[in-house]
Amino acid sequence: MAFMAKVHLTGAQATMLATLYGRALDAESSHPLLNDTMALDAVRKIDADFGATGLHRSDRITVALRAGHLDAWTREFLATHPEATVLHLGCGLDSRVYRVDPGPGVRWFDVDYPDVIELRRRLYPPRDGYETIASSVTDPAWLTRVPADRPVLVVAEGLTMYLREDEGRALVRRIVDRFPAGQFVFDAFSRRGIRMQRINKVVQVAGATLHWGVDDGAELEAIAPGLRCVTALSAFSIEGYEKLGLGYRALVGVARLLPVMRRMSVFYRLEF
Ligand SMILES: C[S@@+](CC[C@H](N)C(=O)[O-])C[C@H]1O[C@@H](n2cnc3c(N)ncnc32)[C@H](O)[C@@H]1O
Repeated sequence: MAFMAKVHLTGAQATMLATLYGRALDAESSHPLLNDTMALDAVRKIDADFGATGLHRSDRITVALRAGHLDAWTREFLATHPEATVLHLGCGLDSRVYRVDPGPGVRWFDVDYPDVIELRRRLYPPRDGYETIASSVTDPAWLTRVPADRPVLVVAEGLTMYLREDEGRALVRRIVDRFPAGQFVFDAFSRRGIRMQRINKVVQVAGATLHWGVDDGAELEAIAPGLRCVTALSAFSIEGYEKLGLGYRALVGVARLLPVMRRMSVFYRLEF
């Protein structure tokens, strides 16, 4: 172990320790789903009480499957757009760029608050075509640093719910206005999911607040002209659950049958 990085994060920034921990637990399990060994290395180098992040050990399964799902949508976009820009917003300590390992035609930007990016830079190696941007995603200034000459893929996992609705909508509009074409892939909570944030232990432990709830693709399409919702997939319907044990499959099967649960967390893919 080369060093121990002390972290003093609170609020939304602290929640990324929980998802990092989930991926690390998956990587050290006997049958990893994502096998993000960089997450495991990072957890070993960070001086924090990961057991106190509010993440239950069994949550590693959903964390790993959800990350894998957005990795797959990212790879799909890059397979048809080998010359592209990727904006990975609210990246936390997610090693997605190393997992996806994009080709030389891709410029990849990881964006998060300065304290998160500072930690990221200490933990992960540089690579060609890859930059980090230390800024709130809602600050309009950072986007002007990103060249606008290629189609864009915006990937945001566990971010939208932390944004205020007007700020989130303005961010989407700025990106649509700036790039010639592209896709957004992200997860969002329903408004009911936002109202139920008191039972979200990770959010409570971090002292974070959730704001933006999305109930369907039509309200996302209304953000900017030319924006089309091509996929809206319940988080309980993504691939991978079928490979799990009977108990887990039964729980997910029940969640899929209950409209309130099915709509609580949804993966959206928007095109413009
Ligand atoms: C639940 S964590 C998810 C982190 C990462 N995407 C993952 O899956 O591990 C939420 C992340 O969103 C970031 N975030 C929240 N609001 C943000 C904002 N306005 N600007 C930049 N990052 C933000 C937090 O700092 C944190 O890293």
